[in-house]
Amino acid sequence: MKSYYSTVTKLLGNKTGTILEIGSGEGEFLTYLARHTNWDVFGCDIHEHAGNSQDRYSRVEKRLKEATIPLEKYKWMHSGDPLPFESASIDIVVSIQTLEHVEDLSHLFSEIQRVLKPEGSALHYFPTIEILIDPHSGVPFAHRMDSRARRRGLAFFSRLGIGKYRRYRRERKYDLNRFVGEFDRYIEQLCHFRSIDECLRISENSGLKAKLIPPPPLPPVSWVARIVARFTSIYIRQEKEEFARYRGMK
Ligand SMILES: C[S@@+](CC[C@H](N)C(=O)[O-])C[C@H]1O[C@@H](n2cnc3c(N)ncnc32)[C@H](O)[C@@H]1O
Repeated sequence: MKSYYSTVTKLLGNKTGTILEIGSGEGEFLTYLARHTNWDVFGCDIHEHAGNSQDRYSRVEKRLKEATIPLEKYKWMHSGDPLPFESASIDIVVSIQTLEHVEDLSHLFSEIQRVLKPEGSALHYFPTIEILIDPHSGVPFAHRMDSRARRRGLAFFSRLGIGKYRRYRRERKYDLNRFVGEFDRYIEQLCHFRSIDECLRISENSGLKAKLIPPPPLPPVSWVARIVARFTSIYIRQEKEEFARYRGMK
């Protein structure tokens, strides 16, 4: 269980209804939600990323069965497909460490707008380009460099003992070349870091009013989130524009 699951769950609120996790990966958070809340949980992910590991599907199936979540509640789709859920059928959409992997954010946000009920909302916890240390490799600025500079940066910082290389060497017997090659490819092909402002703009253009929140216990104020975004992931909460207008949300 990841340390932020309980915080995300608290932010979702102690309600009932349908919740859809986008980018459910191994199904860890989905099963956490099923065990610790009264939400009716649904999940989805794409074949091109999480699904490209051969045994992933069976690991996910096993985990869902253990948590007594019906398998049909976790949908696999292709990148760019519409979300495989009815329009206006979901109370809450949630994603964890996923938006920085989504290639077409505009498409995804439009789909979230479509599947949410009128008074529904979405909560995303993810790192933006403002973060100083790439959270995947643990190496400063690795997510901001082109491939050539990144390979050098990954090797340089790893030799200094900075980042995740030591752990990968100890636990998975990686050598430096393998670490540099894999993380360079991962960041190049599977990461799409964006600025806070770009995420907010895409959200607004998709009909979703968005609000920035730093991780609790920090005060839920957007300028605090902007500072904190240099060091850790932040939250974006979205509401359908019509509903936000109705509620007077800023
Ligand atoms: C770093 S993993 C996070 C997985 C999980 N949320 C967790 O916290 O353990 C990012 C996930 O986003 C998924 N993803 C990327 N693009 C997506 C998209 N367009 N729609 C749904 N999921 C996507 C990937 O397949 C991957 O499982």
